[in-house]
Amino acid sequence: MARHIGILTSGGDCPGLNAAIRAVARAACDHQIKVTGFRDGFRGLVHDQTMELQPGMLSGILTDGGTILGTSRDKPHRMPIGGKERDMTHAIVETVHRHKLDAVVCIGGGGTQKNALRLQQAGINVLTLPKTIDNDIHGTDMSFGFDTALEIATQAMDRLHSTASSHRRIMVVEIMGHRAGWLALGAGMAAGADVILIPEIAYDLGHVAEAISERAQAGKRFSIVAVAEGAMSREDAKEVSRLVKLKNSDKKAERRQASEELIAFHAQHTDHTLRLTQELEQLTGQESRLTILGHLQRGGTPTAADRLLCTRLGTACVDALLQRRFGTMMAVRGMDIIPVPIDEVAGRKKLVPSDHEWVQSAKAVGTCFGD
Ligand code: F6P
Repeated sequence: MARHIGILTSGGDCPGLNAAIRAVARAACDHQIKVTGFRDGFRGLVHDQTMELQPGMLSGILTDGGTILGTSRDKPHRMPIGGKERDMTHAIVETVHRHKLDAVVCIGGGGTQKNALRLQQAGINVLTLPKTIDNDIHGTDMSFGFDTALEIATQAMDRLHSTASSHRRIMVVEIMGHRAGWLALGAGMAAGADVILIPEIAYDLGHVAEAISERAQAGKRFSIVAVAEGAMSREDAKEVSRLVKLKNSDKKAERRQASEELIAFHAQHTDHTLRLTQELEQLTGQESRLTILGHLQRGGTPTAADRLLCTRLGTACVDALLQRRFGTMMAVRGMDIIPVPIDEVAGRKKLVPSDHEWVQSAKAVGTCFGD
Protein backbone atom coordinates (compact mmCIF):
# COMPACT_ATOMS: atom_id res chain seq x y z
CA MET A 1 0.00 0.00 0.00
CA ALA A 2 1.43 3.39 -1.02
CA ARG A 3 1.96 5.85 1.86
CA HIS A 4 3.76 8.79 0.32
CA ILE A 5 4.07 10.12 -3.25
CA GLY A 6 5.81 13.06 -4.90
CA ILE A 7 4.31 15.20 -7.64
CA LEU A 8 5.82 17.73 -10.06
CA THR A 9 4.88 19.74 -13.11
CA SER A 10 7.46 20.03 -15.88
CA GLY A 11 7.89 21.68 -19.30
CA GLY A 12 5.92 24.67 -20.60
CA ASP A 13 2.92 25.43 -18.40
CA CYS A 14 -0.69 25.31 -19.53
CA PRO A 15 -4.17 25.76 -18.07
CA GLY A 16 -5.27 22.71 -16.10
CA LEU A 17 -2.04 21.97 -14.22
CA ASN A 18 -3.55 23.05 -10.91
CA ALA A 19 -6.72 21.09 -11.62
CA ALA A 20 -4.56 17.99 -12.21
CA ILE A 21 -2.50 18.56 -9.03
CA ARG A 22 -5.72 18.98 -7.05
CA ALA A 23 -7.21 15.78 -8.46
CA VAL A 24 -4.13 13.66 -7.71
CA ALA A 25 -3.68 15.12 -4.22
CA ARG A 26 -7.36 14.89 -3.23
CA ALA A 27 -7.76 11.34 -4.51
CA ALA A 28 -4.51 10.33 -2.76
CA CYS A 29 -5.63 12.00 0.46
CA ASP A 30 -8.81 9.95 0.30
CA HIS A 31 -6.60 6.85 0.63
CA GLN A 32 -4.47 8.40 3.43
CA ILE A 33 -1.53 8.84 1.05
CA LYS A 34 0.70 11.84 1.81
CA VAL A 35 1.55 14.03 -1.22
CA THR A 36 4.71 16.13 -1.43
CA GLY A 37 4.99 18.64 -4.25
CA PHE A 38 8.41 19.26 -5.83
CA ARG A 39 9.02 22.78 -7.10
CA ASP A 40 9.94 23.81 -10.63
CA GLY A 41 9.87 20.43 -12.32
CA PHE A 42 12.74 17.94 -12.02
CA ARG A 43 14.91 20.70 -10.53
CA GLY A 44 12.88 20.41 -7.31
CA LEU A 45 13.69 16.71 -7.11
CA VAL A 46 17.41 17.38 -7.62
CA HIS A 47 17.58 20.12 -4.96
CA ASP A 48 14.89 18.63 -2.71
CA GLN A 49 12.73 21.76 -2.86
CA THR A 50 9.32 20.75 -1.64
CA MET A 51 5.82 21.96 -0.87
CA GLU A 52 3.53 19.85 1.32
CA LEU A 53 0.16 19.65 -0.40
CA GLN A 54 -2.19 19.94 2.57
CA PRO A 55 -5.90 19.59 1.68
CA GLY A 56 -6.51 23.29 2.51
CA MET A 57 -4.08 24.39 -0.21
CA LEU A 58 -6.08 22.59 -2.86
CA SER A 59 -9.25 24.61 -2.35
CA GLY A 60 -9.92 27.10 -5.11
CA ILE A 61 -7.09 26.05 -7.43
CA LEU A 62 -9.28 24.04 -9.84
CA THR A 63 -9.93 27.13 -11.92
CA ASP A 64 -6.50 28.78 -11.61
CA GLY A 65 -4.09 28.95 -14.56
CA GLY A 66 -0.38 28.17 -14.16
CA THR A 67 0.92 25.74 -11.55
CA ILE A 68 1.25 26.23 -7.79
CA LEU A 69 4.37 24.02 -7.96
CA GLY A 70 6.15 26.06 -10.62
CA THR A 71 7.71 24.44 -13.66
CA SER A 72 10.92 24.36 -15.70
CA ARG A 73 12.27 22.64 -18.78
CA ASP A 74 15.21 21.15 -16.83
CA LYS A 75 16.07 17.53 -17.59
CA PRO A 76 17.40 15.14 -14.89
CA HIS A 77 20.36 14.11 -17.09
CA ARG A 78 21.20 17.66 -18.26
CA MET A 79 20.59 19.82 -15.21
CA PRO A 80 22.18 23.29 -15.32
CA ILE A 81 24.49 23.35 -12.28
CA GLY A 82 27.27 25.91 -11.84
CA GLY A 83 27.16 27.01 -15.50
CA LYS A 84 27.41 23.41 -16.77
CA GLU A 85 24.91 20.70 -17.65
CA ARG A 86 25.23 17.68 -15.34
CA ASP A 87 23.53 14.33 -15.04
CA MET A 88 21.76 14.63 -11.66
CA THR A 89 19.73 11.43 -11.81
CA HIS A 90 21.63 10.11 -8.75
CA ALA A 91 20.52 13.19 -6.73
CA ILE A 92 16.90 12.52 -7.69
CA VAL A 93 17.20 8.88 -6.60
CA GLU A 94 18.60 10.11 -3.24
CA THR A 95 15.69 12.57 -2.81
CA VAL A 96 13.17 9.83 -3.54
CA HIS A 97 14.82 7.53 -0.95
CA ARG A 98 15.16 10.33 1.64
CA HIS A 99 11.41 10.99 1.50
CA LYS A 100 10.60 7.25 1.18
CA LEU A 101 8.42 8.02 -1.85
CA ASP A 102 6.44 5.10 -3.22
CA ALA A 103 6.13 6.87 -6.57
CA VAL A 104 6.60 10.20 -8.33
CA VAL A 105 3.79 11.64 -10.47
CA CYS A 106 5.24 13.69 -13.35
CA ILE A 107 2.82 15.99 -15.14
CA GLY A 108 4.11 17.21 -18.48
CA GLY A 109 4.43 16.94 -22.24
CA GLY A 110 6.60 14.87 -24.56
CA GLY A 111 9.89 15.87 -22.90
CA THR A 112 8.50 15.00 -19.48
CA GLN A 113 7.51 11.53 -20.66
CA LYS A 114 11.13 10.96 -21.77
CA ASN A 115 12.51 12.25 -18.47
CA ALA A 116 10.04 10.15 -16.47
CA LEU A 117 11.16 7.08 -18.41
CA ARG A 118 14.78 7.84 -17.45
CA LEU A 119 13.76 7.96 -13.78
CA GLN A 120 11.89 4.70 -14.12
CA GLN A 121 15.03 3.15 -15.65
CA ALA A 122 16.93 4.47 -12.61
CA GLY A 123 14.60 2.41 -10.39
CA ILE A 124 12.02 5.05 -9.39
CA ASN A 125 8.31 4.24 -9.63
CA VAL A 126 6.77 6.86 -11.94
CA LEU A 127 3.30 7.71 -13.19
CA THR A 128 2.61 10.51 -15.67
CA LEU A 129 -0.20 12.70 -16.92
CA PRO A 130 -0.22 14.11 -20.49
CA LYS A 131 -0.14 17.91 -20.58
CA THR A 132 0.39 20.21 -23.54
CA ILE A 133 -1.49 22.73 -25.61
CA ASP A 134 0.24 21.16 -28.64
CA ASN A 135 -1.74 17.87 -28.31
CA ASP A 136 1.27 16.05 -29.78
CA ILE A 137 1.85 13.36 -27.13
CA HIS A 138 1.85 9.90 -28.62
CA GLY A 139 -0.54 7.32 -27.19
CA THR A 140 -3.32 9.63 -25.99
CA ASP A 141 -6.19 11.03 -28.03
CA MET A 142 -5.94 14.27 -26.09
CA SER A 143 -3.63 16.09 -23.71
CA PHE A 144 -4.99 18.60 -21.22
CA GLY A 145 -4.44 22.28 -21.99
CA PHE A 146 -5.30 21.74 -25.64
CA ASP A 147 -9.00 22.52 -25.28
CA THR A 148 -8.32 25.80 -23.48
CA ALA A 149 -5.72 26.94 -26.02
CA LEU A 150 -8.12 25.94 -28.79
CA GLU A 151 -10.79 28.15 -27.27
CA ILE A 152 -8.41 31.11 -26.84
CA ALA A 153 -7.05 30.89 -30.40
CA THR A 154 -10.55 30.49 -31.82
CA GLN A 155 -11.89 33.50 -29.92
CA ALA A 156 -8.91 35.58 -31.08
CA MET A 157 -9.64 34.73 -34.71
CA ASP A 158 -13.36 35.44 -34.21
CA ARG A 159 -12.38 38.93 -33.07
CA LEU A 160 -10.05 39.46 -36.01
CA HIS A 161 -12.89 38.85 -38.49
CA SER A 162 -14.61 42.18 -37.88
CA THR A 163 -11.53 44.37 -38.07
CA ALA A 164 -10.29 42.40 -41.10
CA SER A 165 -13.58 43.06 -42.84
CA SER A 166 -13.64 46.78 -41.96
CA HIS A 167 -10.23 47.31 -43.56
CA ARG A 168 -10.34 44.72 -46.40
CA ARG A 169 -7.26 43.05 -44.95
CA ILE A 170 -5.52 39.73 -44.81
CA MET A 171 -5.16 38.76 -41.15
CA VAL A 172 -2.38 36.27 -40.53
CA VAL A 173 -2.52 34.63 -37.09
CA GLU A 174 0.40 32.65 -35.71
CA ILE A 175 -0.70 29.83 -33.42
CA MET A 176 1.52 27.74 -31.11
CA GLY A 177 1.94 23.99 -31.45
CA HIS A 178 5.71 23.48 -31.68
CA ARG A 179 6.25 21.08 -34.64
CA ALA A 180 2.62 19.87 -34.70
CA GLY A 181 -0.38 21.48 -36.38
CA TRP A 182 -3.23 20.32 -34.12
CA LEU A 183 -3.87 23.67 -32.48
CA ALA A 184 -3.73 25.75 -35.68
CA LEU A 185 -5.85 23.17 -37.49
CA GLY A 186 -8.48 22.87 -34.76
CA ALA A 187 -8.72 26.60 -34.05
CA GLY A 188 -8.55 27.44 -37.75
CA MET A 189 -11.48 25.14 -38.44
CA ALA A 190 -13.48 26.36 -35.44
CA ALA A 191 -12.96 29.99 -36.46
CA GLY A 192 -13.60 29.35 -40.16
CA ALA A 193 -10.11 30.43 -41.25
CA ASP A 194 -9.80 30.67 -45.03
CA VAL A 195 -6.26 29.32 -45.07
CA ILE A 196 -4.66 26.93 -42.55
CA LEU A 197 -0.94 26.23 -42.73
CA ILE A 198 0.49 23.42 -40.61
CA PRO A 199 3.95 21.79 -40.40
CA GLU A 200 2.66 18.43 -41.63
CA ILE A 201 1.45 19.87 -44.98
CA ALA A 202 4.15 21.89 -46.75
CA TYR A 203 2.64 24.85 -48.55
CA ASP A 204 3.25 26.55 -51.87
CA LEU A 205 3.16 30.32 -51.35
CA GLY A 206 1.73 30.83 -54.86
CA HIS A 207 -1.22 28.58 -54.07
CA VAL A 208 -1.97 30.46 -50.84
CA ALA A 209 -1.83 33.86 -52.60
CA GLU A 210 -4.04 32.52 -55.39
CA ALA A 211 -6.69 31.30 -52.93
CA ILE A 212 -6.73 34.71 -51.22
CA SER A 213 -6.92 36.62 -54.52
CA GLU A 214 -9.81 34.40 -55.65
CA ARG A 215 -11.68 35.31 -52.47
CA ALA A 216 -11.15 39.02 -53.16
CA GLN A 217 -12.35 38.57 -56.76
CA ALA A 218 -15.46 36.84 -55.42
CA GLY A 219 -16.19 39.99 -53.40
CA LYS A 220 -14.94 38.78 -50.01
CA ARG A 221 -13.59 41.71 -48.01
CA PHE A 222 -10.98 39.79 -46.00
CA SER A 223 -9.10 36.55 -45.48
CA ILE A 224 -8.04 34.90 -42.23
CA VAL A 225 -4.85 32.83 -42.42
CA ALA A 226 -4.16 30.51 -39.43
CA VAL A 227 -0.47 29.58 -39.36
CA ALA A 228 1.05 27.01 -37.02
CA GLU A 229 4.38 28.24 -35.66
CA GLY A 230 6.16 25.28 -37.31
CA ALA A 231 4.49 25.63 -40.74
CA MET A 232 6.87 25.38 -43.68
CA SER A 233 6.95 26.16 -47.36
CA ARG A 234 7.75 23.30 -49.77
CA GLU A 235 11.31 24.61 -50.22
CA ASP A 236 11.92 24.78 -46.46
CA ALA A 237 10.38 21.35 -45.91
CA LYS A 238 12.73 19.90 -48.58
CA GLU A 239 15.73 21.48 -46.89
CA VAL A 240 14.69 20.17 -43.45
CA SER A 241 14.17 16.64 -44.74
CA ARG A 242 17.63 16.78 -46.41
CA LEU A 243 19.19 17.83 -43.11
CA VAL A 244 17.27 15.24 -41.10
CA LYS A 245 18.51 12.50 -43.49
CA LEU A 246 22.06 13.80 -43.15
CA LYS A 247 21.70 13.78 -39.37
CA ASN A 248 21.36 9.98 -39.58
CA SER A 249 24.47 9.64 -41.76
CA ASP A 250 27.18 7.21 -40.68
CA LYS A 251 29.79 10.00 -41.05
CA LYS A 252 30.29 11.93 -37.81
CA ALA A 253 31.27 15.18 -39.56
CA GLU A 254 28.11 15.10 -41.67
CA ARG A 255 25.96 14.45 -38.59
CA ARG A 256 27.52 17.39 -36.73
CA GLN A 257 27.18 19.70 -39.74
CA ALA A 258 23.51 18.70 -40.20
CA SER A 259 22.73 19.29 -36.51
CA GLU A 260 24.27 22.75 -36.61
CA GLU A 261 22.41 23.64 -39.81
CA LEU A 262 19.12 22.38 -38.35
CA ILE A 263 19.58 24.53 -35.24
CA ALA A 264 20.33 27.53 -37.47
CA PHE A 265 17.29 26.75 -39.63
CA HIS A 266 14.92 26.65 -36.65
CA ALA A 267 16.47 29.83 -35.19
CA GLN A 268 15.82 31.79 -38.37
CA HIS A 269 12.37 30.18 -38.77
CA THR A 270 11.07 32.23 -35.83
CA ASP A 271 10.23 35.16 -38.12
CA HIS A 272 8.71 32.89 -40.76
CA THR A 273 5.14 34.11 -40.19
CA LEU A 274 6.20 37.76 -40.46
CA ARG A 275 7.93 37.06 -43.78
CA LEU A 276 4.87 35.14 -44.96
CA THR A 277 2.61 38.09 -44.09
CA GLN A 278 4.81 40.48 -46.07
CA GLU A 279 5.03 38.10 -49.04
CA LEU A 280 1.24 37.66 -49.13
CA GLU A 281 0.79 41.44 -49.15
CA GLN A 282 3.17 41.73 -52.10
CA LEU A 283 1.67 38.84 -54.06
CA THR A 284 -2.01 39.77 -53.55
CA GLY A 285 -1.76 43.56 -53.31
CA GLN A 286 -3.96 43.34 -50.19
CA GLU A 287 -2.92 45.01 -46.96
CA SER A 288 -1.85 42.34 -44.44
CA ARG A 289 -1.42 42.29 -40.68
CA LEU A 290 0.18 39.73 -38.40
CA THR A 291 -1.05 38.70 -34.94
CA ILE A 292 1.14 36.37 -32.89
CA LEU A 293 -0.98 34.86 -30.12
CA GLY A 294 2.06 33.48 -28.27
CA HIS A 295 1.76 32.75 -24.56
CA LEU A 296 -1.78 34.15 -24.34
CA GLN A 297 -2.70 30.63 -25.46
CA ARG A 298 -1.19 29.17 -22.29
CA GLY A 299 -2.56 31.59 -19.74
CA GLY A 300 -5.63 31.90 -17.56
CA THR A 301 -8.37 29.62 -16.41
CA PRO A 302 -8.89 26.18 -18.01
CA THR A 303 -12.09 25.46 -19.92
CA ALA A 304 -14.74 23.19 -18.42
CA ALA A 305 -13.57 20.36 -20.73
CA ASP A 306 -9.97 20.70 -19.49
CA ARG A 307 -11.03 20.83 -15.82
CA LEU A 308 -13.06 17.68 -16.35
CA LEU A 309 -10.19 15.94 -18.16
CA CYS A 310 -7.63 16.93 -15.51
CA THR A 311 -9.85 15.63 -12.74
CA ARG A 312 -10.37 12.30 -14.54
CA LEU A 313 -6.65 11.95 -15.36
CA GLY A 314 -5.65 12.77 -11.78
CA THR A 315 -8.01 10.29 -10.16
CA ALA A 316 -7.11 7.60 -12.74
CA CYS A 317 -3.48 8.18 -11.77
CA VAL A 318 -4.24 7.39 -8.12
CA ASP A 319 -6.14 4.26 -9.21
CA ALA A 320 -3.03 3.21 -11.19
CA LEU A 321 -0.91 3.93 -8.09
CA LEU A 322 -3.13 1.72 -5.93
CA GLN A 323 -2.87 -1.03 -8.53
CA ARG A 324 0.92 -0.49 -8.67
CA ARG A 325 0.77 0.05 -12.44
CA PHE A 326 4.01 2.02 -12.41
CA GLY A 327 5.77 3.22 -15.56
CA THR A 328 2.51 4.29 -17.14
CA MET A 329 0.96 7.47 -18.54
CA MET A 330 -2.76 8.07 -18.06
CA ALA A 331 -4.07 8.25 -21.62
CA VAL A 332 -7.37 9.25 -23.18
CA ARG A 333 -8.68 6.52 -25.47
CA GLY A 334 -12.12 7.35 -26.79
CA MET A 335 -14.35 7.82 -23.75
CA ASP A 336 -11.92 6.07 -21.38
CA ILE A 337 -8.77 6.84 -19.44
CA ILE A 338 -6.30 3.97 -19.45
CA PRO A 339 -2.70 3.59 -18.24
CA VAL A 340 -0.29 3.03 -21.17
CA PRO A 341 3.40 2.10 -20.80
CA ILE A 342 5.60 5.20 -20.86
CA ASP A 343 8.21 3.41 -22.97
CA GLU A 344 5.60 3.23 -25.76
CA VAL A 345 5.03 6.99 -25.52
CA ALA A 346 8.44 8.53 -24.86
CA GLY A 347 10.38 9.80 -27.87
CA ARG A 348 7.41 9.63 -30.24
CA LYS A 349 5.37 12.58 -31.46
CA LYS A 350 1.74 12.55 -32.54
CA LEU A 351 1.63 14.66 -35.69
CA VAL A 352 -1.37 15.45 -37.91
CA PRO A 353 -1.62 12.82 -40.66
CA SER A 354 -1.97 14.78 -43.93
CA ASP A 355 -5.16 12.83 -44.73
CA HIS A 356 -6.60 13.19 -41.21
CA GLU A 357 -10.36 13.49 -41.00
CA TRP A 358 -10.05 17.08 -39.68
CA VAL A 359 -7.98 18.03 -42.75
CA GLN A 360 -10.48 16.38 -45.09
CA SER A 361 -13.36 18.10 -43.35
CA ALA A 362 -11.63 21.50 -43.57
CA LYS A 363 -10.91 20.96 -47.27
CA ALA A 364 -14.54 19.98 -47.83
CA VAL A 365 -15.67 23.41 -46.61
CA GLY A 366 -13.18 25.15 -48.90
CA THR A 367 -10.21 25.78 -46.59
CA CYS A 368 -6.91 26.20 -48.41
CA PHE A 369 -3.86 24.34 -47.02
CA GLY A 370 -1.52 25.69 -49.70
CA ASP A 371 -0.79 22.16 -51.01
O1 F6P B 1 4.91 23.03 -25.87
C1 F6P B 1 4.13 24.12 -25.55
C2 F6P B 1 4.64 25.36 -26.23
O2 F6P B 1 3.78 26.42 -25.86
C3 F6P B 1 4.79 25.28 -27.73
O3 F6P B 1 3.58 25.43 -28.41
C4 F6P B 1 5.76 26.40 -27.97
O4 F6P B 1 6.52 26.14 -29.14
C5 F6P B 1 6.66 26.35 -26.77
O5 F6P B 1 5.92 25.69 -25.75
C6 F6P B 1 7.09 27.71 -26.24
O6 F6P B 1 7.96 27.49 -25.18
P1 F6P B 1 8.45 28.62 -24.18
O7 F6P B 1 7.32 28.96 -23.25
O8 F6P B 1 9.58 27.96 -23.46
O9 F6P B 1 8.85 29.79 -25.01
